[in-house]
Amino acid sequence: MSVLLYSPLQIKNLTLKNRIVISPMCQYSSVDGFASDWHLVHLGSRASGGAGLIIQEATAVSPEARISPDDMGIWKDEHIEKLASINEFIISQNSVPGIQLAHAGRKASCSSPWNGHKKLDATQGGWETVAPSAIRFQDADTLPLALDKAGIDKVIADFKAATKRAVKAGFQVMEIHAAHGYLLHSFLSPLSNKRTDDYGGSFDNRIRLTLEVVEAVKSEWPKDLPLFVRISASDWAEGGWDIEESVLLSKTLKDKGVDLIDVSSGALVPYQKIPVEQGYQVPFAEKIKKASGIMTGAVGLITDATQAEEILLMGKADLILFGRESLRNPNLGLTFAADLDVEVQWPKQYERAKK
Ligand code: FNR
Repeated sequence: MSVLLYSPLQIKNLTLKNRIVISPMCQYSSVDGFASDWHLVHLGSRASGGAGLIIQEATAVSPEARISPDDMGIWKDEHIEKLASINEFIISQNSVPGIQLAHAGRKASCSSPWNGHKKLDATQGGWETVAPSAIRFQDADTLPLALDKAGIDKVIADFKAATKRAVKAGFQVMEIHAAHGYLLHSFLSPLSNKRTDDYGGSFDNRIRLTLEVVEAVKSEWPKDLPLFVRISASDWAEGGWDIEESVLLSKTLKDKGVDLIDVSSGALVPYQKIPVEQGYQVPFAEKIKKASGIMTGAVGLITDATQAEEILLMGKADLILFGRESLRNPNLGLTFAADLDVEVQWPKQYERAKK
């Protein structure tokens, strides 16, 4: 019987050699948004480690879109060169480079995790954050500025310009970050969006910015390459965005030509109650896939090959994203194959270590 985790997946004109995806993970290792040798080694080793698709960390579409001053960015042409050389390496390893475009919204302007993840004010290199409404993420935060129409238009234009650069840098999969309480998610959720204009209130109004960003990205992104959107399928909080709204949004995104929903959850409000356990977000991926017919990616505490294979066999998702497990084991694309008794080619430099 063929092993699904190692069966190729064609999306539009692109074929992934397997269903193993490195989940986007901020490295907080950029200066002025530039990718560095850290990124080449981090992303490159996971490509030589056998993953079919490597999605680069949340990459800011403007300086104020960064979570921290150390975030990766793609807001100027000078960022392209290093990204292009990393992508070339990933492709040379028979893997595929993807990018996650992001705007951190009201969760921006923080120090990196190892510096305490604290809000930064202007004297500490911070900046004013923006949001659908002037509502803080947590009590200690300064109030974000509610975006006016010109501010919204700038965000959309920034995503469009960033996409143009991503194409030049040679990315082959595009993911729009609409999860984890960042700007697009904060427009989706009624807990953070209290607007009374066309961008707030009804479901159609709350999803408007996400749809406009999708359209702007599509206007620059090649029609034959995959387009993903990452969402938080639930806020895990009363009165918040939920799985039913996620299914409706996914149907709309499918109609708009989005290929796959990368299904995460949470991080909109600090008082969320998440029943964290192995594969806890998989039921959301399954529901979205079955109810809307769009492909899904499953992520969150998926840590071994058998668990991943079962998710695919049960038809709950089309791709499996690995976050922390891929930090522990950069070669999981190689080692999982042995676990599932599949023959895969190792880099010739590593062949003597193959069991
Ligand atoms: C993350 N995560 C994350 N998610 C995202 O959409 N964009 C990002 O840039 C980041 N950054 C990030 C950094 C680090 C260090 C970690 C550990 C996580 C979330 C990540 O992609 C994944 O969804 C979660 O980690 C859950 O999957 P695992 O780790 O249980 O496999």
